[in-house]
Amino acid sequence: MNSPFHDQISRRPRIFNVLHKLRLIAPQTQTHPAERAVLKRYIKECVAAVEVGTYMGVTAAELASELPQGGMLYCVDPYLNDDPYQRVAQRHFARQKVTSRIQILAATSTQAASVLPAEVDFFFVDGDHSRKGLEADWRVVLQLLKKNGVAAFHDTSPVHEKDRNSIEAIAFFDEVIKPDRRFKLVETCMSTNILVRLA
Ligand SMILES: C[S@@+](CC[C@H](N)C(=O)[O-])C[C@H]1O[C@@H](n2cnc3c(N)ncnc32)[C@H](O)[C@@H]1O
Repeated sequence: MNSPFHDQISRRPRIFNVLHKLRLIAPQTQTHPAERAVLKRYIKECVAAVEVGTYMGVTAAELASELPQGGMLYCVDPYLNDDPYQRVAQRHFARQKVTSRIQILAATSTQAASVLPAEVDFFFVDGDHSRKGLEADWRVVLQLLKKNGVAAFHDTSPVHEKDRNSIEAIAFFDEVIKPDRRFKLVETCMSTNILVRLA
């Protein structure tokens, strides 16, 4: 988990980037190690994988390290206003030696849909947690995820008080994604729900 110091500095992206460059601070994430461990089980055999919302790249680097030979993780994040966290993510990927397995697309999921592979094996959705944001990501999942493919949604099950921030994502998941009969919920780990697209 992130310390209060990390939380404060993360609101100052330029300072965070400098400290990271100097190896004085580690990149942070909102995913729990248990969630990352579960996601890594599902990505193992995947050739085309997508993370929507990459931030500093902590989860992406761990996921990419599990890909088989020739596998690629497409990291989709708009990184608005020359967001220094894109540079943190790129540096983190280089330090973790996963750069060759990752392609960053500085875009929203909707903008990236036309350049992503037409058949995706794995999605990890962790971007804009508003109802509209998740709805847009869901449309891209429906368009590109292949049969038997896996779609995981972070912050779609309540775990903590702070989940008030994800209230819209949780509602959209419960009302639209979970009941969709083209998918089967296979696992829930903390706030992350994992579904398989039925053949
Ligand atoms: C919670 S963070 C992602 C954390 C990351 N998945 C991890 O595990 O460390 C959310 C990220 O989503 C990005 N984002 C916001 N709107 C987005 C959108 N429409 N499409 C893709 N990413 C988006 C933000 O720029 C931010 O970096």
